[in-house]
Amino acid sequence: MNASTAGGPQAGEVRMYYPSEEFVRQATISGMSAYEALCREAESDYTGYWAKRAREMVTWKTPFTQVLDESNAPFFKWFADGTLNASYNCLDRNLERGLGDKTAIIFEADDGEVTRINYRDLHAKVCQIANGLRSLGVQKGDRVVIYISMSIDGVAAMLACARIGATHSVVFGGFSAQALRDRIEDTRAKVVITADHQIRGGKQLPLKAIVDEALSLGGCDSVERVLVVRRSGAPVNMVQGRDRWMADVVGGQAQTCEPEWVEAEHPLFLLYTSGSTGKPKGVQHSTGGYLVHAALTTAWTFDLKPNDIFWCTADIGWITGHTYIAYGPMALGATQIVFEGVPTFPDASRFWRMIERHKVTIFYTAPTAIRSLIKAAESNDTVHPRNFDLSSLRLLGSVGEPINPAAWEWYYRHVGGERCPIVDTFWQTETGGHVITPLPGATPLVPGSCTLPFPGIMAAVVDETGKDVPNGQGGILVIKRPWPSMIRTIWGDPERFKKSYYPEEFGGKYYLAGDGAIRDAKTGYFTITGRIDDVLNVSGHRMGTMEIESALVAKTDLVAEAAVVGRPDETTGEAICAFVVLKRPLPTGDEARAIAKELRDWVAKEIGPIAKPKDIRFGENLPKTRSGKIMRRLLRSIAKGEAITQDTSTLENPAILDQLGQAY
Ligand code: WT7
Repeated sequence: MNASTAGGPQAGEVRMYYPSEEFVRQATISGMSAYEALCREAESDYTGYWAKRAREMVTWKTPFTQVLDESNAPFFKWFADGTLNASYNCLDRNLERGLGDKTAIIFEADDGEVTRINYRDLHAKVCQIANGLRSLGVQKGDRVVIYISMSIDGVAAMLACARIGATHSVVFGGFSAQALRDRIEDTRAKVVITADHQIRGGKQLPLKAIVDEALSLGGCDSVERVLVVRRSGAPVNMVQGRDRWMADVVGGQAQTCEPEWVEAEHPLFLLYTSGSTGKPKGVQHSTGGYLVHAALTTAWTFDLKPNDIFWCTADIGWITGHTYIAYGPMALGATQIVFEGVPTFPDASRFWRMIERHKVTIFYTAPTAIRSLIKAAESNDTVHPRNFDLSSLRLLGSVGEPINPAAWEWYYRHVGGERCPIVDTFWQTETGGHVITPLPGATPLVPGSCTLPFPGIMAAVVDETGKDVPNGQGGILVIKRPWPSMIRTIWGDPERFKKSYYPEEFGGKYYLAGDGAIRDAKTGYFTITGRIDDVLNVSGHRMGTMEIESALVAKTDLVAEAAVVGRPDETTGEAICAFVVLKRPLPTGDEARAIAKELRDWVAKEIGPIAKPKDIRFGENLPKTRSGKIMRRLLRSIAKGEAITQDTSTLENPAILDQLGQAY
């Protein structure tokens, strides 16, 4: 790429990075004029634009005649009279195109062992699992919860559900028994698919035992079967009549399986994510519209070509692993890496080593990972990317949180060799795929900006009344028109869907992302300024402050009241800070440290280790206004260690500010 400053080297101007001529020449969307032409096409004939993409990207069993149905807004329908099958599109279609021998997945286990599977064998495997699920009575519309770590089996289980029209709900393997139970109960799943253990960072961690515990917590009587994949081979408890080894169920099954052709709106999956209230929301995605955008964004944002080796480091427990592992790359017949382990094991050069080993060409990861690997490389030169041959790379991506310009520059220079564009992709669980992102062969890049809307996504920045704000002025990020891969509803709670995403205050017109944004006065580029609701982003993981508060006050023997806020953190983006009032005298010193540990362990048990507060501060009370509202802005200042500028005259007991000054 070539770096230059926009309009000459004047002070204060942002440096722009342009793709090399060579990259532009070979790119699917080549040059800004191509990008602009697509935007114009979408502007002038919105439904025509999306219908065209839907026909190009997806093979339909019954072609659709309707494109967008807005009659029951905001419950939009796309391609509603079309039928298709997602697993057919990700597997059979590739075999028909002669890609049977092509490697679909290069799986690298935690210990470095590599297993490859080609499209023919993956198809056979998925068909066997699908037949196995059918033999257990799983039918179209049934829910299947998948609680498994990164594996070929995990991806195959998702595709097998899709094949028979069962709606999957993958629960990240780091969630606790309680969190898993909540999700199983909400989905009313018939089957849970899991493994005996997961192996990460050289450690064997339980999966099946956590499923057992979840099911014993009650509310999960919908579950008829637990299917267990063998990973560690170490013994686990099997409940007679309920639990079966996956190998026993699928072993004798046929290697072909007629797909269940479903309507475009059929729910392909539910994925739980945090909102501003305590209870996670089951984001419901469609089959047709979702798959169209998954495939389209994989093709355009990642400029994916038949010879690429694609690696998205996300876990299948998050939306990124759904769209950019299980569905997008598969729909395009790509070869991709699936990695079981963690970036720091056996040491912090693992990613660079793997890029070199597998000749990865497109690498997509989170800013948190980059920041922690920068730190590691600074203290130990042997794990610095310069020690590895990363010349296979041609494109880099970032996802999940804002990438700070310093991390961007490092990624660009030391990983991408100043040769690879970086696509900073903004999107959400709810958007299904990228909504604001550079297209690498077109968009000049600015570190820290996700640049411009994907063609056909009508993103805008508005004020509280829903009116456009001028560029250069911050506001609220919205999407003005429905798009194919958008969330359809919150499972079992359509009212909450409406209230969360199409609130009355905006006249119910625009999709509300929940983030603030600002567009650059000159370029119109978007920069995301962070959540405008009570949602934190910790290491690219989304956490609701209320969710953590609920977990803390559920420790009824100890906690009287709790408030959770975020504060900036150099590595994790944001860190969780909990302010806690105990049902006992104010602790200090070792006692306070011991209680803080007890509370962290408790939160890990209630939600998962990712929700553990980094700082815990104790007070005899929380700072409140006269009307009894917790002064959260004040808490945020305390959490940051800032001087307090807020008016504290209404505080009943100003001494608590001193108490809260100490973090444990
Ligand atoms: C929230 C969505 C996107 C899939 C993984 C996370 C933040 C996401 C970016 C980005 C700045 C970003 C937003 C968003 N976010 N990508 N490129 N730049 N912020 O999905 O768990 O649903 O979280 O992550 O705050 O709302 P998610």
